[in-house]
Amino acid sequence: MYSEKVMDHFQNPRNVGEIEDASGVGTVGNAKCGDIMRMYLDIDENGVIQEAKFKTFGCGAAVATSSMATELVKGKTIEEALKVTNKAVMEALDGLPPVKVHCSLLAEEAIHAALWDYAEKNHIKIEGLKKPKNDISEEGEEEVY
Ligand code: FES
Repeated sequence: MYSEKVMDHFQNPRNVGEIEDASGVGTVGNAKCGDIMRMYLDIDENGVIQEAKFKTFGCGAAVATSSMATELVKGKTIEEALKVTNKAVMEALDGLPPVKVHCSLLAEEAIHAALWDYAEKNHIKIEGLKKPKNDISEEGEEEVY
């Protein structure tokens, strides 16, 4: 039921970990399944994402989608990263079963939450970016893991 790419990113997730002093960190959680995803972005002075890492406490599809999401945003500008939607992540993974679509949504929201944090830290407004509704970054950052 899972594509080879999903299985590959689940079994060999790329970019797992943290970025110290990241430009933006965002944590999102899905209240229904309880899965949590944290995304770290390192953004240079030209607004290009140099590094992306993640930690996911969640299902296999959540791990695979966060892995793919970090791969997709690396090297992109903020504007381009905003186009990395859950659909784009799913397509890059050759699809997900319908019950797992929300996992890819969490990956999209994790990118947005990290960008939101970056914008707040730098007192800028990113055109087209909204604070994700599942953003739980404020709630005890350290206690999550
Ligand atoms: Fe909820 Fe996968 S089951 S993120």
